[in-house]
Amino acid sequence: MTNTAQRPNRVVVIGTGAVGATTAYTLFLRERASELVLIDANHEKALGEALDMNHGLPFAGGVKLWAGDYSDCKDADIIVIAAGSNQRPGETRIDLLKRNAAIFDDIIRNITNYNDHGIILVATNPVDILSYVSLKKSGFPANRVIGSGTLLDSARFRYLIGQNKKINPRSIHAHIVGEHGDSELPLWSLANVAGVDLEIGEEDKEDIFNRTKNAAYEIINAKGSTSYAIALALDRIIVSILQDEGSVLNVSTLLTDYNGVSDVYLGVPSIVDRSGVREVLDIELNTEELERFQASARKLKEQIASLEL
Ligand code: 2OP
Repeated sequence: MTNTAQRPNRVVVIGTGAVGATTAYTLFLRERASELVLIDANHEKALGEALDMNHGLPFAGGVKLWAGDYSDCKDADIIVIAAGSNQRPGETRIDLLKRNAAIFDDIIRNITNYNDHGIILVATNPVDILSYVSLKKSGFPANRVIGSGTLLDSARFRYLIGQNKKINPRSIHAHIVGEHGDSELPLWSLANVAGVDLEIGEEDKEDIFNRTKNAAYEIINAKGSTSYAIALALDRIIVSILQDEGSVLNVSTLLTDYNGVSDVYLGVPSIVDRSGVREVLDIELNTEELERFQASARKLKEQIASLEL
């Protein structure tokens, strides 16, 4: 057992599609929580996933995992929302908004019927807007409503920079901020290895960023959905919460008077601990980055304005 599993803690995963099931399996393998609950509108699907994982118990650790219902949210420390439609080839994340916002009414009401103390971690797309929707509908404080944000995009970015520089991506500090989607932006001005400038040419920079931004389209065209890397990103956030790490992660969080942006969720470097998002780091953006960051916020706010909240 890892340290995280020494005291009872419960993670509930709502939605057992590719992202939810892979996230649950990642948490199960790494023994991140002592109790894992799978909930799906199609209960049979959750039952099947739970059975399949439980049959691996003789080869894995001692996590207690079951297919449950919303009453299991009562004792949850973290509730991951991965329910909803995912993109079909050619669709943007924003194209999912109407479809997925509609199911969030029920999901959030069901959660808050049983839980007023946990942390809601949203992975469903468009993740920044649905995190904002979750905040408004739950009445939870903003620190306890978190979106997976640009943590995955930043991982893709670090991977691609690592490939270019032949350096392990774990040693590369580089951030994608803004929307988890087409208006996201790279913070080249802050990217470094051990404080040393990356020295990547403009053409390579453009290629690395485009491949980062378009990674999900590439994967969806090839295999229909993405799942492994987002599951690892969610696992990373969950560990930082349960172990009270205070790691800096590019999650989506409510911004107030932040680089000229307010009342919107965007991915920015944030300190994540047992309280959820404890603090947002005050990053310094150059003129071009600031312009793009504010444009990303405007784009999402226009979409939010079209919703009934
Ligand atoms: C991803 O970036 C589709 O948002 C999902 O993998």
